[in-house]
Order: sequence, then C-alpha cells, then structure tokens
Amino acid sequence: MQKIKLNNGVEMPMIGLGTFMISPEDAEVAVREGLKIGYRLIDTANMYLNERAVGRGIKESGVPREEIFISTKLWITEFENENAVDETLERLGIDYIDLLFIHQPAGNYLAGYKQLEKAYKAGKIKAIGVSNLEGKYFDNLMKNTEIKPQVLQAERHPYFTGKEMQEKLKENEIKVMSWYPLGHGDKSLINEPIFTELAKKYGKSNAQIILKWHNQMGYTVIPGSKNVEHIRENFDINDFTLTEEEMKKIETLDTEKRYCVFTQEMFDGFAKMQPEYEK
Ligand SMILES: NC(=O)c1ccc[n+]([C@@H]2O[C@H](COP(=O)([O-])OP(=O)(O)OC[C@H]3O[C@@H](n4cnc5c(N)ncnc54)[C@H](OP(=O)(O)O)[C@@H]3O)[C@@H](O)[C@H]2O)c1
Repeated sequence: MQKIKLNNGVEMPMIGLGTFMISPEDAEVAVREGLKIGYRLIDTANMYLNERAVGRGIKESGVPREEIFISTKLWITEFENENAVDETLERLGIDYIDLLFIHQPAGNYLAGYKQLEKAYKAGKIKAIGVSNLEGKYFDNLMKNTEIKPQVLQAERHPYFTGKEMQEKLKENEIKVMSWYPLGHGDKSLINEPIFTELAKKYGKSNAQIILKWHNQMGYTVIPGSKNVEHIRENFDINDFTLTEEEMKKIETLDTEKRYCVFTQEMFDGFAKMQPEYEK
C-alpha cells in the first residue's frame, strides 16, 4: 500500500474509498468489503449522511481501527457548533479522526477552521484538511491559520489537473486528495482513446490507468463506488508504472474543464443546508 507523508509527519494511504451519494445501506457494505479487499482509507462527510453506516462497515470488517485512515468533513452549519467534532466522532463510533476537513469555503469557515485547530491540539484529529478552498478562499485562510492544513481535497481529474494551485500547495507542503477522480463516472473521460491504448498496453482497465495517473501526480485518490467489482479493480493499481512520456500525454487532456464550477451564490446556498443525520 503506497502512502504519502503529510507536512506533520502523518502518513496517508494514496488509494481510498469515497462515499459521496452512497446510501447508508450501500456505504456499510462498500466500506466493509473495501476494507476486506485491502483499502485503508475511507472518505466520508457529515453531509453524506452515512457516517454511522461507515462506522458500522469499519466494525464489521474486523480490521483494527489503528490500521485505518478515516477522513470526514465538517459541514458549514457545524462550523460554529463547538460540539461538532465530538458529535462527528460519536456518529462514526471512533475516538479520533485521522483527517478532518472543513467542507466548503462558506458561512463562517474561519470559525470552522479554528475548531479543527482546537481538535488537533486536543488529539481528537491527526491531520487538518480544507475542501474546495482554492483561489481567494485559500489565500484568505492561509492568512488566518495557526496550524497549516495538511491536505486540500478538490476536484481533480485529467480534464482538470489544478495547475493554478500547484505552486502554493508545494510552498506549504499541502497534499492533494482528488475528488471526482473518474469524472464522477463520466464515460467520455473514462473512454478517452489514450486510456484505452494504455489499458491495453498494461493489461489494466481505463479506470485503473486514470487512478494510477493521479497517484503518479502525487494525488491521493478516493474513487466512489457501490459496486464491489469496481472497488476491487480500483484498488489494484500498484503493479505497473506509467512512463514520463505517457504522463505528459495524459496531461494534454487538461482543458481546465471542471464538472462543478462553484460560485459565491452556490456557497451561500450551501450555508443554509442543514443536514438531517442518521439516528
Ligand atoms: N469535497 C467535496 O466537495 C467532494 C465532492 C465530491 C466528491 N467527494 C469525494 O470524492 C469521492 C469521489 O468522487 P465521486 O464518487 O463523486 O466520483 P468518482 O470517484 O469520480 O466516480 C464515481 C463514479 O464512477 C463509477 N466507477 C467507480 N469505479 C469505476 C470503475 N472502475 N469503472 C467504471 N466506473 C467506475 C461509480 O459507479 P459504481 O458505483 O457503479 O462503481 C460512480 O458512478 C466521493 O465519493 C467523495 O468521497 C468530495
């Protein structure tokens, strides 16, 4: 299992399982089976409304807690709730979180970040993350942090490699975790001729070539799936390496196309969304 070292020395697996838009029933099975296959990173969020199910899947897998890297995200309406971290721990059924993000640069996100710093100092979380904080939001946050974040989770895939953030992230030794690594299942991305050609060469699937590209870019990937065969396939990318030339060829697909273009109006709308957690 390939791992990457964060700027505070914590090691994070480079392949994980995403659980966005996955029902509690499916998330429980995906997490349990994923851990049995060998995954050691699971990504969820308050707003995915499946944290309790993720916790159940972890317990049913029989894999010891300390072997698993769990990332989750504080939702905007929790940024000023000083019990939010404890409530997240309770839903997941664990006593520390490996990586906690603030989910969106909306509402009072600086207060949300302060909560992460407090939880980090108290040992309740092992690493701090920011999700979707790019451009001016990232710059504003960095002027107001006591502890630098370790990870940025943001949209990344071969159509959008995130060039404009690369220098800033490098300067601050912040690692990227890619969301929508497979374009949220977009067939036109997965079926790009370059991936079909490389899949044939390496005896892999197109999705495996894309996930490997992320890892070789230094990006951790968390493909989402409720299909156990896909979950197995996505984890099996450690027996080949793309050449430098192949990596460069894949980069030519970057047209800076994002599937989600966030606007301030969208962030303002998100800030009014109150999650209804599983009981
Ligand atoms: N921070 C944020 O704001 C944010 C936003 C979005 C996502 N995320 C995180 O990032 C994770 C990944 O994003 P995502 O799940 O939306 O998109 P994704 O991983 O790019 O794509 C998931 C889609 O691809 C399909 N798929 C998975 N493996 C496949 C394979 N080997 N071959 C063909 N199709 C495959 C899945 O269908 P099947 O179920 O049929 O396999 C699903 O429809 C999320 O689960 C979540 O943890 C974070």
